[in-house]
Amino acid sequence: MFSRSLQRLSVGVFSALRRGVIWCGDWVRARPGVAAWLYGKQGSDAGYREFNGWYFAQFGEQEKMLADRPRMDFYHAAIQRHVHPGDRVIDLGTGTGILAAFAARKGAAKVYAIDHSKILKHARRLATHNGIEKVEFISTHSRDFALRERVDVILHEQMGDFLFDEAMVPNVIDLRERVLKPGGRIVPSVFEFYCEPIKVKDERRIPFIWELDVHGYNFSCLERSRPQEAPYYRHNSCDLGVVEHFLGNPAPALTLDLQTLNEDDLPHEIRLQRTVVNAGRLDGFVVFFRARVDGDLSLSSGPLDAGRAPHWGFRTLRVAKEDFTVGEVIELTLTVGAWAEPDTWRWSHSKKAATGVMPAPAPVAASTQ
Ligand SMILES: C[S@@+](CC[C@H](N)C(=O)[O-])C[C@H]1O[C@@H](n2cnc3c(N)ncnc32)[C@H](O)[C@@H]1O
Repeated sequence: MFSRSLQRLSVGVFSALRRGVIWCGDWVRARPGVAAWLYGKQGSDAGYREFNGWYFAQFGEQEKMLADRPRMDFYHAAIQRHVHPGDRVIDLGTGTGILAAFAARKGAAKVYAIDHSKILKHARRLATHNGIEKVEFISTHSRDFALRERVDVILHEQMGDFLFDEAMVPNVIDLRERVLKPGGRIVPSVFEFYCEPIKVKDERRIPFIWELDVHGYNFSCLERSRPQEAPYYRHNSCDLGVVEHFLGNPAPALTLDLQTLNEDDLPHEIRLQRTVVNAGRLDGFVVFFRARVDGDLSLSSGPLDAGRAPHWGFRTLRVAKEDFTVGEVIELTLTVGAWAEPDTWRWSHSKKAATGVMPAPAPVAASTQ
């Protein structure tokens, strides 16, 4: 009897301790200043660089990107329009060298193709194999890259599923400040970041485990053991068949232009409101992006855009299911410790009664085009 109580007590103490440690880790990660003070800026940066270099060294990752037709068509068209004969160009994160090759073929006088991954040795071979000249491959991280001249164009593809999670903003701004000519171009530079309330198709919805009842086997007691880890509260999918509809009319939660943006301009809290135009169950808020080059050329990772770039996942920030009727208003608050670290993102929402002022109804599968 006594030993059973002791056992129960120690299990309770250990699980409280475990929750406490995870909570402290999340709290620190949500405060980049504290994290840098505790672990040192270099430490966390070095870990990410190592992972990123290893990840992109794999043919499997490169081929997914190269086979993504909307992605490659977008970049090819953007380079045709915005790299001019005689330009001097940097390709930030050249990978297999494909964008550098497009720029060289367009007539660039010189392309500095930089990458910190071992994929670069294959990029060199590919350029020779394809008769590409004027490209200099440089094995380095962009922060360590220095140049005596300034260039006309920076090309890059540094978008993660969460848009910001491959350090696009700090990496591009760093090069812009140090090596882009005044009036030089960043391709692409305009990005829309979306966070839209969605209903998932019934047959594709994965509930929280404590919501489940499978043939009478009930899981509700697990709610007490809710995981503390941030990734549990997000779903990843590349599949056009998952989302049934947006509940509201989609609009960018943020629009940024890398030509002019300063990192401090990014807010740490976003509040958005959507009046429900398609009734149904709210399953979460889906995160995706659209890159724009000129008015008519864009690249989307949106879950309902038929021409979406298929290799990017869209990420759903999960919430407890809740039904909404037309006219009700969903208010979302997204707080962000560090944009490049989605584990520091937190979200909550509330429901407001219908106001009587209705926006124009959206088609059920509204796209963001
Ligand atoms: C998404 S891939 C794009 C590859 C290629 N540009 C393309 O469009 O197919 C990003 C590449 O950037 C490299 N990379 C990421 N951050 C970098 C940095 N700060 N400096 C140099 N290379 C970087 C990665 O190793 C990877 O090869």
